[in-house]
Amino acid sequence: MADSINDRKTLLISGASSGIGHAVCKRLASSETQVFTVDIECAPPDVEVANHYQADLSVPAEVEKLTRTIRNDIDISSISSLINVAGIPGTKPAEQVFQVNLLTVRFLSRQLAAHMRPGGTIVNVGSISGNNWGQRIDTYKELLALDDAGARVWWQNKMKAVEVDPYTFSKEAVIVWTMLQAGELRGTGLRCNVVSPGPVETPLLPTFRDQIGDERIDWVLHHSGRAAQPDEIAQAIEWLAIGESSWVNGHHLVVDGGYTSGLLSGWVDTENAPEPRVTFVD
Ligand code: NAI
Repeated sequence: MADSINDRKTLLISGASSGIGHAVCKRLASSETQVFTVDIECAPPDVEVANHYQADLSVPAEVEKLTRTIRNDIDISSISSLINVAGIPGTKPAEQVFQVNLLTVRFLSRQLAAHMRPGGTIVNVGSISGNNWGQRIDTYKELLALDDAGARVWWQNKMKAVEVDPYTFSKEAVIVWTMLQAGELRGTGLRCNVVSPGPVETPLLPTFRDQIGDERIDWVLHHSGRAAQPDEIAQAIEWLAIGESSWVNGHHLVVDGGYTSGLLSGWVDTENAPEPRVTFVD
């Protein structure tokens, strides 16, 4: 049987003001939960939250200040789920992409996991852009063995040498990080999983079109049938955070309407696929 925590769940959700994070808040905010949110923007619309923290998660000093503030405001051990949704596209500077999509996720996860009680969960958001993480597993293990300062220096020195663009890199890395954290958390009763969406109708989607190209995105949508609605990703996040998923740990859950299954089993015709317009660091 799963370990249990307090009946009333206390949730901390990043990237809560828009898109998938907002959908997660709408789905999870109820009389049985206490929802705290974090975003660079104002509080999520249409949702009553216990408190909203405005912070730029691309700035390490702000992330550290955020954790201190949260620790002052909340009994941090009462947080039952951390849901790391905030993410930025590859059209932003590579240092910021690396920080928000990977290092901040790792920092917040470690800070909170040190205090969370058995039964607690962490859910990260990856992307199907990160599906090929296995091709670079040794690189990610080398990187993720470093502390944050060391990892930033590593990225400065090696971002031009990695085989993929910064967004793809950050998403592959956060998938591997989630798997590694499941190992770090052995024996604590905490679980950590990552949800990887395909294209989702949020304000981020047009930036992916800019980055990857309309042809490639439309080709993906042709195979999956359509883009997801944000709530369809929130459904999976809810299950991993507070649903009946007690033995699911370190799992990479792809939520893309079947597109990845087509790549893996061959019903997606990759030979005629338009090449993604990938942005490498010059
Ligand atoms: P969105 O742009 O609607 O939401 C992202 C949220 O993160 C926004 O509220 C934004 O203000 C916040 N945010 C951005 N930079 C921040 C910063 N420096 N500090 C604090 N908050 C910040 O985008 P969406 O689509 O909801 O993205 C959520 C996650 O889903 C991201 O991690 C993204 O990479 C991932 N994803 C999205 C896909 C899509 O097609 N929309 C596909 C695959 C993954």
